[in-house]
Amino acid sequence: MTIEAFAKVNFTLEVFAKRADGYHALRSLVVPIELSDTLTIEFANAITSDLPYADDLCVKAAKVLRSSAPHPERLKGVRISVKKRIPAGGGLGGGSADAAGVLVALNEMWNLRYSPERLAEIGAAVGSDVPALVLSRFAGPVVMEGRGELVRSASLKGAKVFLVIANPGVFCSTPEVFKKCISRVTDDPSILYNMVSSFAAGDVDLMARSFMNDLEHPAVELHPRIGLLKERLEKAGVRGAAMSGSGSTLFGLVRSGEEGRAIAASLCAEGFKAWCVATYCPVV
Ligand code: C5P
Repeated sequence: MTIEAFAKVNFTLEVFAKRADGYHALRSLVVPIELSDTLTIEFANAITSDLPYADDLCVKAAKVLRSSAPHPERLKGVRISVKKRIPAGGGLGGGSADAAGVLVALNEMWNLRYSPERLAEIGAAVGSDVPALVLSRFAGPVVMEGRGELVRSASLKGAKVFLVIANPGVFCSTPEVFKKCISRVTDDPSILYNMVSSFAAGDVDLMARSFMNDLEHPAVELHPRIGLLKERLEKAGVRGAAMSGSGSTLFGLVRSGEEGRAIAASLCAEGFKAWCVATYCPVV
């Protein structure tokens, strides 16, 4: 079976107090984008992948899913091949997207018949972003809370915008960025509300003003090049530039694919990695 595994950007990302398990409580609007890895999965003797990482989330996802099954011993192994396009370690959820794709594909191949919600629950044991990326394959943009295990559809099916995403070529360590982040002490529900309602209404001015990420300030402190690229994006005409996840990728709104491709080309000419992408919403 061959499937696409879609990357995400965080349109909002609020960081609350650290929990007893060492993870911070978060609230985020996670939006899938049309930038994907291609997964090819075939039956084999053991569960393996062609990725060179020891902590490969594809293999972990397959193993966690198999052990959740009523009769794991009856399920064949699989060989997973990944054609990578999502840059690794950039805040775009590449590894988690691949894991989510594996869960959805193997649910069919192993004939497990789990619901999207059950698959998202299983995904929480694979990685913090995996539940959101499982549900977003079915529902489009997703509201993620807790450390990532609480996910619900943001009811934004059909909402679509074009983005320029750009990477300054620096590596952000997720634990380091979280360590430097000052958690919110009060809850401001208007952050998520304004983001979701402006996206639903296609109000691009309010959308651009509503993008936010509590991890951006600490990431810029650690890597000033992220701040420079943000200024560069805004100068190029991208609206509301903000960072995704724990960085270092930034994104912002453009009016059309044509405008976005021109801006991305000018950034690439300056040595940044940049793409124009549409947000992804599954066909109902
Ligand atoms: O989710 P992941 O394992 O990639 O997170 C890496 C590290 O980032 C965690 O060990 C933790 O230090 C920090 N983190 C956090 N709160 C979260 C997610 C990650 O503090 N919700």
